[in-house]
Amino acid sequence: MEPIGEKLYSRDDVVRTYRQVYDLLVTKHIINTYSTNKDDVRDIALKDLDLRGVDKILDLGCGYGFFIEKLKKRLSPAACFTGIDIVENNRDVYINSVASTGYKGQFINDDISCISSLESSAYNLIIASYSLYFFPWAIKEISRILMDGGIFVSVTHSRHALSEATDFLPRCMKKIGINPPGEIALNKLFEQFSLENGEKMLAPYFKKVDKILYQNEMVFSVENIEDCIYYLEKKRHLIYKEVMERYPKRVVDLESCLAQSIYHYAKKNNGISLNKDDAVFRCYK
Ligand SMILES: C[S@@+](CC[C@H](N)C(=O)[O-])C[C@H]1O[C@@H](n2cnc3c(N)ncnc32)[C@H](O)[C@@H]1O
Repeated sequence: MEPIGEKLYSRDDVVRTYRQVYDLLVTKHIINTYSTNKDDVRDIALKDLDLRGVDKILDLGCGYGFFIEKLKKRLSPAACFTGIDIVENNRDVYINSVASTGYKGQFINDDISCISSLESSAYNLIIASYSLYFFPWAIKEISRILMDGGIFVSVTHSRHALSEATDFLPRCMKKIGINPPGEIALNKLFEQFSLENGEKMLAPYFKKVDKILYQNEMVFSVENIEDCIYYLEKKRHLIYKEVMERYPKRVVDLESCLAQSIYHYAKKNNGISLNKDDAVFRCYK
């Protein structure tokens, strides 16, 4: 199964972004600390679902297994997780997350395109948490491998996620003498499967799609602006993709310009709020 159209990020871009598993944990901590919405998006995603009969779970772009702890005691005692991720470093931490729930599990280090070799109707719960925008071309395959009566749960961002920060980039690029692209790759990534277009993309492949809005923003005061900069820095291979490829020596200047722009904005406006609206899609077959 090949991606339809141009692949926005290469395997290397994704691996460089997510190979430091510890960074992802710190990033999640920053999100929790500065989010205005204090509900846990996983509780919202799984609320009122009867999962007692679920025994085959597929976790796509699983990372360290963000969802797993919330499934403890909710599945069949025979439940078995399969996590797939392109980053091998997630293996141990994923296996440990599964073990802590008492269920069985395995980790497959591969590209999501490998699901084309999986049997049809093999899983009764499939999860894609903040990952489907990397491989929206896999939706049809996801529907094929989901059992009748099964559920696919996907969580994704708004297409405007982080735009209050990334909107500074074109001006910063001009400032350091680089021609800005029409739209930066990170925005294109979020647009590939977003709160706004997710329902339309999923509807042709499932019997029913429910959308649950999770409104949120991350609010950083001037005193905490370093956490905001750190959070963005962890996404540098996604945010500065075009510049890394064409002008690798200028990335540091661009990062510094973005950090300064954010700091000045926050100083003038008593902080900065970043869009962190998400949506949960529950798809039934
Ligand atoms: C934002 S992280 C989300 C991780 C986890 N699901 C969570 O909610 O914390 C996106 C994950 O998707 C994985 N990923 C992206 N593209 C992939 C691909 N083509 N095949 C397999 N994994 C991929 C990345 O390695 C990363 O772990």
